[in-house]
Amino acid sequence: MREAATGTQVTVMGWVRTRRDSKQVSFVAMNDGSTVANLQIVIDTANADEETLKRITTGACLSVKGQLVESQGKGQSVEVQAQSIEVLGDSDATYPLQKKGHTWEFLRDTAHLRPRTNTFGAVFRIRNQMAFAIHKFFHDKGFVYFHTPLITSSDCEGAGQMFQVTTLDLENLPKNQEGKTDYTQDFFGRRTSLTVSGQLEGELAATALGAIYTFGPTFRAENSNTPRHLAEFWMIEPEMAFYDIKDNMDLAEEFIKFCVQWALDNCMDDLEFLNKMIDKELIERLKFVTTHDFVRLPYTEGIKILEDAVAKGRKFEFPVFWGADLASEHERYLVEEHFKKPVILTDYPKEIKAFYMKQNEDGKTVRAMDVLFPRIGEIIGGSEREADYGKLMQRIEELNIPMKDMWWYLDTRRYGSCPHSGFGLGFERLILFVTGMANIRDVIPFPRTPGRAEF
Ligand code: 4AD
Ligand code: MG
Repeated sequence: MREAATGTQVTVMGWVRTRRDSKQVSFVAMNDGSTVANLQIVIDTANADEETLKRITTGACLSVKGQLVESQGKGQSVEVQAQSIEVLGDSDATYPLQKKGHTWEFLRDTAHLRPRTNTFGAVFRIRNQMAFAIHKFFHDKGFVYFHTPLITSSDCEGAGQMFQVTTLDLENLPKNQEGKTDYTQDFFGRRTSLTVSGQLEGELAATALGAIYTFGPTFRAENSNTPRHLAEFWMIEPEMAFYDIKDNMDLAEEFIKFCVQWALDNCMDDLEFLNKMIDKELIERLKFVTTHDFVRLPYTEGIKILEDAVAKGRKFEFPVFWGADLASEHERYLVEEHFKKPVILTDYPKEIKAFYMKQNEDGKTVRAMDVLFPRIGEIIGGSEREADYGKLMQRIEELNIPMKDMWWYLDTRRYGSCPHSGFGLGFERLILFVTGMANIRDVIPFPRTPGRAEF
């Protein structure tokens, strides 16, 4: 609600959160979504229209004219003494957000209305601030915001977790001479999918414009029902010419710290609310991250620490050995129990990382970097890129990646190749961290997960 000096006439519009009646007065808590704080409307019931009074129920939308006065009650500094009230939209007893204490699951089923709750209002206001912070950070550094396509025929991460895009009639698929689906008859004349990452096109841009970033939706058909995975999420992918892995780590650390500091500087009301209602250590944790250096550690060292822990009796669900892909429980052990700080793990075995990462001299590891965060596990994944045409080709052949789809990507290494690096930040994982929310489904307005795409 816009700021106005006490004593002035105001017209305020918003939705009724609660109503409380005493003998001659009704107190209505109204909210217009601009802040977590409600505005108290005081109605002198003796002088109010009875029909209108009946219509002031939880969920209804009101326009109230009145005087802004200093509040006589506790809990707010100002309130509005109503002079006239118009009900813009009625609500009734079937309004799903009647009482407090709904389960998260119920609120997910009510995703069309949950932004009207205090918690989701706070989360989505913070999400908005974070999107702005991201653009601000890169814009101020001179990075170019570059748009990469959502429909693509290349699987950047090579994990085969793509959603197919087709206009072919699935009941009646055209066949080629080999009896397989004839994609030359599909809309794009080829088989296409939704992108899992904008990186490959981002590299084309970085090797032309210098430093770029993308910020857009990303799709992964991985069937993982975890509190950290979505089938549709947003990713920020900076890509920089002339950056090596160290420059890449410095940027990632500076970037996350900037975003978290932005929340502390611009979202304190909402953070204080979430700190009270959701996670008592939230603000402390955010401050900690902005004021401490991240640990930087090679994967091999990380595995040693985990093996030591296992030897001392620490139990993990998934096995620990050199070559294993780390599970979230391993990442969180390093961050939350061993170092008690964010950790950047580098130089992973090449077998568990994507084809484009720069190969180390040892022939076993690649110049990967994952940023691991408390409560989240992996928040950023990135690497220095393999700039050498021959080495990259060799890896593509080893992994049997269809060459004809990759010709345009290889041209970056064929013509004026340069050292370059980049990373991807999962936007919702950042929002999870900044809000203290426990489930990724609760930090995106309309989550897409296996079996669910309503709203
Ligand atoms: O580690 P990932 O797969 O890296 C890439 O896609 C690279 N192309 C990035 C780059 O170097 N340009 O994904 C990057 C980040 C992860 O660290 C995680 O935060 C997030 O994206 N992420 C997901 N977030 C929500 N749901 C999912 N299913 C996610 N998969 C990855
Ligand atoms: Mg990753």
